[in-house]
Amino acid sequence: MEYATLYNGVKMPILGYGVYQVTKEECERCVLDALRAGYRSIDTAQSYANEEEVGEAIEKSGIARDDIFLTTKVWIEHYGYEETKASVIESMRKLKTDYLDLCLLHQPFSDYYGAWRALEELYNEGKIRAIGVSNFYPDRLIDLALFSSIKPMVNQVETHVFNQQKTAHEIMEKYDIRQEAWAPFGEGRGGLFENATIREIGVKYGKSTAQVMLRWLIQRGIVVIPKSTHYERMVENLDVFDFTLSEEDMDKIAALDKEQSSFFSHTDPAIVEWMAGIVEERKHAGKK
Ligand SMILES: NC(=O)c1ccc[n+]([C@@H]2O[C@H](COP(=O)([O-])OP(=O)(O)OC[C@H]3O[C@@H](n4cnc5c(N)ncnc54)[C@H](OP(=O)(O)O)[C@@H]3O)[C@@H](O)[C@H]2O)c1
Repeated sequence: MEYATLYNGVKMPILGYGVYQVTKEECERCVLDALRAGYRSIDTAQSYANEEEVGEAIEKSGIARDDIFLTTKVWIEHYGYEETKASVIESMRKLKTDYLDLCLLHQPFSDYYGAWRALEELYNEGKIRAIGVSNFYPDRLIDLALFSSIKPMVNQVETHVFNQQKTAHEIMEKYDIRQEAWAPFGEGRGGLFENATIREIGVKYGKSTAQVMLRWLIQRGIVVIPKSTHYERMVENLDVFDFTLSEEDMDKIAALDKEQSSFFSHTDPAIVEWMAGIVEERKHAGKK
């Protein structure tokens, strides 16, 4: 395993396992499989509704807690200083741990300043080893970095071959904020797993398209957290440390950038309204 060193000195595995859209029913088995395959970094979130299963799997695995890098994210309806503090403590209870390696604010909406103060405090108390954000595009990222006493250590954003985030990457490098790629395969949208250029490159190195896509991100210094519910794919996705893409191949992949999201844009007003709608709906449904 290779590690990314965050600006506060914390070492984070450059490759981890993400559990978005892993159902409650499957999650414990998947995390146990991932740990058995060799993953030592797990990325969950309050909104994935599977923190308890992640905690259960870690406990059952018998692997020492401090050998695992554990990330969760605070969802918008828990933003605001008091609510965020309480929700992180609740997440730790569900995850059966008394500290988090990384805690992120999931979205750049609502009272993220109040939420950030809570994360800063938990960080200063030693309950979280690193704090960061997710889906913060340059304007909001710089705003938070410059107007807080602790700037984010990580920013987790959609990053894959079709949405390479070159400008955002440069800004994160400028502020020494580590980029973490969510959907490193773009969930396969737009035929990414079948892309002829990536496939051809893979043949050259004896690697799959999935492995080439992960390797390309890692060589850009970006942390990756691929998700799979299949053990053999978990193993495949971890097997990316025995080859190096040449500069020419890195450039060929760089040329495939479509410079737009394969999902939705966080800066689209309609999406901000949609997010607010989700928060309202959940409040009314009384869900946590
Ligand atoms: N912060 C955010 O807002 C945010 C948003 C989205 C995701 N995330 C995080 O990022 C993680 C990864 O993103 P993601 O799950 O959306 O998408 P992803 O990792 O890009 O893609 C997952 C898809 O690829 C398939 N797959 C995995 N390995 C494969 C392989 N070797 N060959 C062929 N297909 C393969 C999986 O299928 P099977 O499962 O059937 O194998 C699944 O359909 C999430 O789990 C979550 O932790 C964060």
